[in-house]
Amino acid sequence: MALTDKFGRQISDLRVSVTDRCNFRCVYCRSADPENHMAEHALLEWDEFERLVRILVGMGIRKVRVTGGEPLVRPGVEDFVARLKAIGVQDLSMTTNGHLLAERCDRLVAAGLDRINISLDSLNREKFEKVTRTKTFAQVLAGIEAAQASPLRPVKVNAVLVRGLNDDEVEAFAEFAREKDIVMRFIEFMPLDADRAWTRDMVVPAAEVYRRISARWPLIPVVHERSETARKYRFADGGGEIGLIAPVTQPFCGHCSRIRLTADGKLRTCLFSKEDHDVKSLLRSGMGDREIGDAIVAMVQTKEKSHRINEPDFVPPSRTMVYIGG
Ligand code: GTP
Ligand code: 5AD
Ligand code: SF4
Repeated sequence: MALTDKFGRQISDLRVSVTDRCNFRCVYCRSADPENHMAEHALLEWDEFERLVRILVGMGIRKVRVTGGEPLVRPGVEDFVARLKAIGVQDLSMTTNGHLLAERCDRLVAAGLDRINISLDSLNREKFEKVTRTKTFAQVLAGIEAAQASPLRPVKVNAVLVRGLNDDEVEAFAEFAREKDIVMRFIEFMPLDADRAWTRDMVVPAAEVYRRISARWPLIPVVHERSETARKYRFADGGGEIGLIAPVTQPFCGHCSRIRLTADGKLRTCLFSKEDHDVKSLLRSGMGDREIGDAIVAMVQTKEKSHRINEPDFVPPSRTMVYIGG
């Protein structure tokens, strides 16, 4: 029973959001005001997540990414990683803001995590504090260092570029990639922010990033999988890699291989889905694995062709990034 949608896209990647909580309040994601969190009882238990991942691995899921909110704020996430590894997930990764990483990296490695993506939206402490609304710059840098000193590979660093906020740092980020021999990825800002402040002119197009970096350092394309979010390049004259993630100016939906599971047990077929599918109640109804698998096959048939950000009648989804898990 393989997972293929009605457009012939093979679903091989699962993103599991284990919590909607986050210890940051990044401006492109959350609001400055406190928002409601999911009630503890609404969250899937680790056993339930594990069962779903096992069912999905049996249906062709090869890549699993653990996300949040911030995944490291939910106690027990390392044990969960170990349980996913034991299922036989081929590519097991995590996306984190890095704040708690330095102290938790060893345990994640021991649990069997393969690789990690860390957000870092500025190399300037003050600006970092403005973007994340926290004073944790040193901890995040320490988290990146810890990841690099560990067997986790590759270590990818993600920066969401917002015009007028951090777009002056493109070259500095590229230098950071070269110096640290790291994968530095530039992400176009998408209309998934809680404040609904997104406008098209806040997006820094990937083509501009490419132009600016390649004007300083010649770039060589690196082969990537069709379904990957990033177009990848290495520097002709040394270490480091850059990735351009351009969901707004060069949508990659045609090759999308992703589905998402939210912390409260909903399956989302697209970041921008208008509705999600309740899997939690299926799990709790006493259904067998086979029936749940069949129900998921049906859900995947509703996967959207594309995100429609560029359509005139586009309406952002009601769930913002912190609830979906990126
Ligand atoms: P890799 O497997 O390491 O390539 O992971 P990834 O790029 O899929 O994961 P990550 O969590 O690091 O995501 C990086 C950026 O890509 C985030 O800003 C996401 O919002 C964006 N992104 C990830 N998946 C999707 C997607 O399905 N659609 C769109 N439009 N953007 C996505
Ligand atoms: N647009 C693009 N990327 C976003 N992320 C969070 N909000 C947005 C947005 N509005 C990114 C985070 C992280 C990943 C999980 O999603 O920075 O890299
Ligand atoms: Fe896939 Fe939706 Fe992302 Fe497009 S926006 S790549 S269809 S999840």
